[in-house]
Amino acid sequence: MISTSKIAIIGCGNLGTSIANGLLQMQGFQPENLTLTKRNISSLEAYQKQGVQVLTDNQVAVQNADIVILGVKPYNVTPILKDLKPSLDPNKQLIISLATGISLEEMYQVLDPKTVAFRAMPNIAADIQESITCICDQNANAEQVKLIKKLFDSIGFTISIDESLMEAATVLGACGIAYVLRFMRAMIQGGIQIGFDSVTASKIVNQTVKGAAELMIQKNMHPEAAIDKVTTPKGCTIVGLNEMEHQGFSSAMVRGVIASYEKIEK
Ligand SMILES: NC(=O)c1ccc[n+]([C@@H]2O[C@H](COP(=O)([O-])OP(=O)(O)OC[C@H]3O[C@@H](n4cnc5c(N)ncnc54)[C@H](OP(=O)(O)O)[C@@H]3O)[C@@H](O)[C@H]2O)c1
Repeated sequence: MISTSKIAIIGCGNLGTSIANGLLQMQGFQPENLTLTKRNISSLEAYQKQGVQVLTDNQVAVQNADIVILGVKPYNVTPILKDLKPSLDPNKQLIISLATGISLEEMYQVLDPKTVAFRAMPNIAADIQESITCICDQNANAEQVKLIKKLFDSIGFTISIDESLMEAATVLGACGIAYVLRFMRAMIQGGIQIGFDSVTASKIVNQTVKGAAELMIQKNMHPEAAIDKVTTPKGCTIVGLNEMEHQGFSSAMVRGVIASYEKIEK
């Protein structure tokens, strides 16, 4: 059970604290079961006050852990795994790396081959428990996959994918947040030009985007099916949409996704 697992987050920065926040809100999860590390722990004081163990020593942090989450930058993964190796028991801890672009193969250059390891790619909506997290693993059995899914479900929604899609998941899910935010900014700018102040335009756009996403999720719909419902023949919506397409809207989005993917692949 995830609520009774001892979890250590090594390198508790932006993403690590989002995961910590999700876990601490999970029913039955005890703060004592969570250990967070950083070199400079002043930003983790509030967690310490809640009963979470906050440390600078990564080796001590993993010793009693069932699950070790690496929240450090990609270039820190290999050196930290090397440091941790003497304190890791391949039959005990499950290792999860959040690092972009670090393959399981690279991790196993350090880890004992019997270790159960995962990669997980959440996004910054983890902060409000609305992340989409894609996970893949090596050596995990069905129960361990279920456990790790439950962990990431505490910060949103989790899906298992093949490792070969992990970079694509980074683009669509993690970079994707920025694409949507840029789209929202453009819509707000349009709203200002047609008469709203920026605060009101932002409120309208935020709720419109939230409503559109919820509609797709709750009704399990494809966007085009809903678009057909709001495009009255000869009406203002289809005129606006077609003008956006003439200006290359869908093409720009697809090309942006591919450009990010090509960059990450390099
Ligand atoms: N942000 C995203 O949207 C996103 C999405 C998916 C995946 N990722 C991946 O998630 C990872 C973390 O991203 P982030 O945005 O959370 O980065 P971040 O805020 O920079 O967090 C990394 C943390 O690691 C700590 N750290 C560095 N060296 C350490 C060491 N030797 N021991 C312990 N802690 C150490 C740093 O704190 P100190 O300097 O105090 O030690 C820092 O707080 C990255 O690998 C990234 O690729 C990020």
